Amino acid sequence: MPAALEQGLTLAVCDPDNADALEAAAGLVGSKASVHLKVDTGMGRIGVDPAEALDLARHLVRSCPNLSLDGVFTHLPVSDEADPGWTREQVARFRGLVDGIQDVVGRRILAHSSNSGAVLGHPEAWLDMVRPGIMAYGFYPDAGTPRTVDLLPGLSFQTRVSFLKKVAAGTSIGYGRTWVAPEDTWIATIPAGYADGFNRLFSNRGRVLIDGRSYPIVGRVCMDQSMVNLGPETSVKVGDTVVLLGRSGEEEISAYEWAEKLGTITYEVTCQINGRVERVYDGY
Ligand SMILES: Cc1ncc(COP(=O)(O)O)c(C=O)c1O
Repeated sequence: MPAALEQGLTLAVCDPDNADALEAAAGLVGSKASVHLKVDTGMGRIGVDPAEALDLARHLVRSCPNLSLDGVFTHLPVSDEADPGWTREQVARFRGLVDGIQDVVGRRILAHSSNSGAVLGHPEAWLDMVRPGIMAYGFYPDAGTPRTVDLLPGLSFQTRVSFLKKVAAGTSIGYGRTWVAPEDTWIATIPAGYADGFNRLFSNRGRVLIDGRSYPIVGRVCMDQSMVNLGPETSVKVGDTVVLLGRSGEEEISAYEWAEKLGTITYEVTCQINGRVERVYDGY
């Protein structure tokens, strides 16, 4: 807590114990800390019960002089779904609470509730600020979310060909010898494996793009490397860019494709790329 406060971050308060710990930490740091009250109106994760929210706000105002209650927020678990009914009711309940908390504080404070699903489909939830996550990567949160804004994927995961060889028909590739060349063919090795976030489930199922063309992963994905079948003739060279996720020419491997193959959601895909993979921030 002290480190966060020294950086001037706004922290969430969820219950009286949490408030008291923050109050003490702010006292030690010697600065007044800005906090936002988290109310659990339906997510069932963290947050004060709505029935206790006003009491907690009173506790903050009366007993925590080192804290400044500057905001109130909640989280919406089904805002990305096609049926808007439940979220509309949830937001209406939250807005009522915001009014009550502002009366306790005696001034207007920031209210926020919108994740990507609500930014796209629930204007009534926009309030003073929004908290889009997956949208920032250019992905819709769910197939059912209204596509009210055109999103473009902003993420690409790339490597380069590190090694090339031509193998004879019958040559096996990789651990477990799970793939055997059906014909003489060129195999590229790429320095990306499951320790980078190129999931082992892509063994004999994944694909990559090189210079606008799609090629299959053959054999098992290794910890740090994987193999790609380029076919009997190729112009691919060592050093060529290999796209694991993203666009190459007219071709695209999307996070939706990864999510489907891996049995997960784009959220997990975007945070699956390991920390050791260099991040490059490129403007449009
Ligand atoms: C509290 C909170 N706000 C906002 C978000 C962003 O959600 P999304 O990525 O669906 O926009 C999250 C993500 O889990 C969250 O936990």
